[in-house]
Amino acid sequence: MNKKITSVLRSLEKRSTYEEKNHHKIDRDLRMLAITKDTGVFYNLLLKTHKPKKILEIGMSVGYSTLWFAGTIDKKSKIITIEQNPQKIELAKKNFAKAGVSSMIQIKQGVAKDVLSQLSKSKNKFDFVFIDADKEQYSLYFDMCLPMVKKNGIIAADNILFPTRFKKHIQKYLNHINKIQSVDSVTVPVGNGQEISFKKK
Ligand SMILES: C[S@@+](CC[C@H](N)C(=O)[O-])C[C@H]1O[C@@H](n2cnc3c(N)ncnc32)[C@H](O)[C@@H]1O
Repeated sequence: MNKKITSVLRSLEKRSTYEEKNHHKIDRDLRMLAITKDTGVFYNLLLKTHKPKKILEIGMSVGYSTLWFAGTIDKKSKIITIEQNPQKIELAKKNFAKAGVSSMIQIKQGVAKDVLSQLSKSKNKFDFVFIDADKEQYSLYFDMCLPMVKKNGIIAADNILFPTRFKKHIQKYLNHINKIQSVDSVTVPVGNGQEISFKKK
């Protein structure tokens, strides 16, 4: 991980800590709601061995998780990331510029379902997909992404264990993916819980 990316990650972690302690003071639309630092470290290790050339992220926020991915992959690799909130997109663009990774990242502004529908019409094939947006739609996102994932690719999802208010939606997601024969899935208790699904064929 280079110094510029690390420096932006550390400053966003300070913001995350402030947000956790003062969430009542910050408008929900402006909260980062980022993955935890140990989740970032986990994906850093996973992607170092997986070496993805193309990453798709659903739920960018201000780009904390995106920066962990960008810091791990080859400079020639690409990340497409989806976010609907224009204020967060502006902040993310600044963070990517400060970290020197703007050229690796393509931001798609819009509602995830619509953006995924557009992406599915192109020839995009991804090695790694990260789902971290509205929890009610995880199964839909999984189904829309699966045909766009290469063999031996990964679909990962955050918030599998916490916060527990998402339990009903997450259980539905787990029941759904466990019925799909072309993937093997495992829950990893890092951060708020990660579901890692490997596409076997
Ligand atoms: C948990 S945050 C993402 C955090 C980010 N992955 C990180 O770790 O830094 C979820 C983000 O998804 C966005 N989002 C939620 N529902 C969405 C939708 N249907 N389409 C696009 N973006 C959505 C929210 O605006 C929010 O910024």
